[in-house]
Amino acid sequence: QNDKLGFEAISILHSYIDANKDGGVEQSESQEFLQEDLQRADQSVSQPGYHSNDNHVTVHDLWDYWVQSEVYNWTVDEVVDWLDVHVDLHQYSQLFKLHDVNGKLLPRLASTIHNPLYTMLGIRNIIHKQKIALKAADIVLFG
Ligand SMILES: *[C@@H]1O[C@H](CO)[C@@H](O)[C@H](O)[C@H]1NC(C)=O
Repeated sequence: QNDKLGFEAISILHSYIDANKDGGVEQSESQEFLQEDLQRADQSVSQPGYHSNDNHVTVHDLWDYWVQSEVYNWTVDEVVDWLDVHVDLHQYSQLFKLHDVNGKLLPRLASTIHNPLYTMLGIRNIIHKQKIALKAADIVLFG
């Protein structure tokens, strides 16, 4: 376990989805999180990849899913493309490059707008932080 901060961030995301706090994410909790928190009305994700017939996804299950996902392997350039196209905040591209923000760092941005990474990057606008956090949660959890 050499990515302690990443694991902590995934734990925080897990706690947001696990509405009944029983330590496992059920499919109904994922659906609710997608529609209410991420405001995905389109039902494009019928079953998030981390479930794969598992109706009690623990923090460790979610972590295992995350480290095997494509987004985990994203290079800085791929993250910057995502920032341009999906978050629509290209003004931070240079900062992301300067601080080598690759896929592995996205859970930290997703976990809370109070994550020290935002301070390190110098992003102060709360609306922008919220937008990045929301989009990062979406891409980390649902690809
Ligand atoms: C991520 O990169 C590692 C190391 O190069 C590789 O073994 C793994 O298959 C990659 N994962 C995905 C989903 O592409």
